[in-house]
Amino acid sequence: MRIVPVDRDRPAANIISTAAELLKRGRLVAFPTETVYGLGAHALDPDAVGRIFAAKGRPSFNPLIVHVSGPDAARALATEWPERAKRLAEAFWPGPLTLVLPKRDVVPDVVTAGLTSVALRMPSHPVALALLRAAKIPLAAPSANRSTAISPTTAEHVAKSLGDRVDLILDAGPTHLGIESTVVDLTADPAVLLRPGAISRERLTALIGPVAEPAPASDGAPRASPGMMQRHYAPRARVQIVSEADAEQALSAIAEARARRQRVGALVYEPTTLEADHTISLPADPEGYARELYAALHALDDAGCAVILVQRLPDDSAWDAPRDRLARAAR
Ligand code: TXA
Ligand code: MG
Repeated sequence: MRIVPVDRDRPAANIISTAAELLKRGRLVAFPTETVYGLGAHALDPDAVGRIFAAKGRPSFNPLIVHVSGPDAARALATEWPERAKRLAEAFWPGPLTLVLPKRDVVPDVVTAGLTSVALRMPSHPVALALLRAAKIPLAAPSANRSTAISPTTAEHVAKSLGDRVDLILDAGPTHLGIESTVVDLTADPAVLLRPGAISRERLTALIGPVAEPAPASDGAPRASPGMMQRHYAPRARVQIVSEADAEQALSAIAEARARRQRVGALVYEPTTLEADHTISLPADPEGYARELYAALHALDDAGCAVILVQRLPDDSAWDAPRDRLARAAR
């Protein structure tokens, strides 16, 4: 595995072409996007895509997002490009929005986990775009971490999680948004929000009308994308969400950990009485919080915390994306 530094705004052509050649030959390259680092492979090469699943330890039923250089490249992979897709792509591409559409036969089944739909996104990160343009192929790229672990927002996170399972890591520094893209299913009518992200449901609704919550699964639990049922976005530590209103819950979690001689971490965004061994204070606005959340979870893991107490986030919709990821980490 090699980590190569690359300028975020003016990536050197020779580095991009080396990475593009590796990808065309079926190898794995981790690259930055505006959300998190992705683990890229040639999306139309089933063997290359198979390497992503092997490197991540990802279950084969969890489909991948395919990254494209623009709407035309997206349309080459989807059998339909409805008015709703056109509007959303015009408004939010390049950017952190993934559209699920009926797939064409050129998209291998291994990419979509056998589904008849494919998830498509045009990223806005200059390095990701340069790579897509140089390689001239669509890139399947999930977050560049072992399956169910915390997504990487730095090249070091990628190296720590995947090590020699990846051929090359392009390092352009920390990612800007810090949380994965919004995923919306346009094969359904009304559209369905499969994963909250930086593009809020309100902004989608303003353009395409009502956007539904995923239908509950038969066991009553909320169901989103195929891969989102399991515990996800999780550090090694146990994550427990605590509210100021229930200080006793936090105190007993701390006492329990102390009795086991375990370290306690805390993740807060406003002043609190929590007394943990390691406390990380995150920005009190949803964008700032999202940007730093995963790095904070990685840091508390590295500090050896067995339990991470997370101050409960506000209920309003601006916090949907970080609240969703923390709820999944706490499962
Ligand atoms: O921000 C992002 O989206 C990052 C960067 C690297 O672009 N990528 C990412 O990929 O988060 P991944 O594989 O970790 O998440 C893909 C999500 C999963 O929730 C998966 O279930 C869903 O997209 N998905 C993919 N294809 C789908 C499909 N055909 N139908 C429904 N959901 C799909
Ligand atoms: Mg992921």
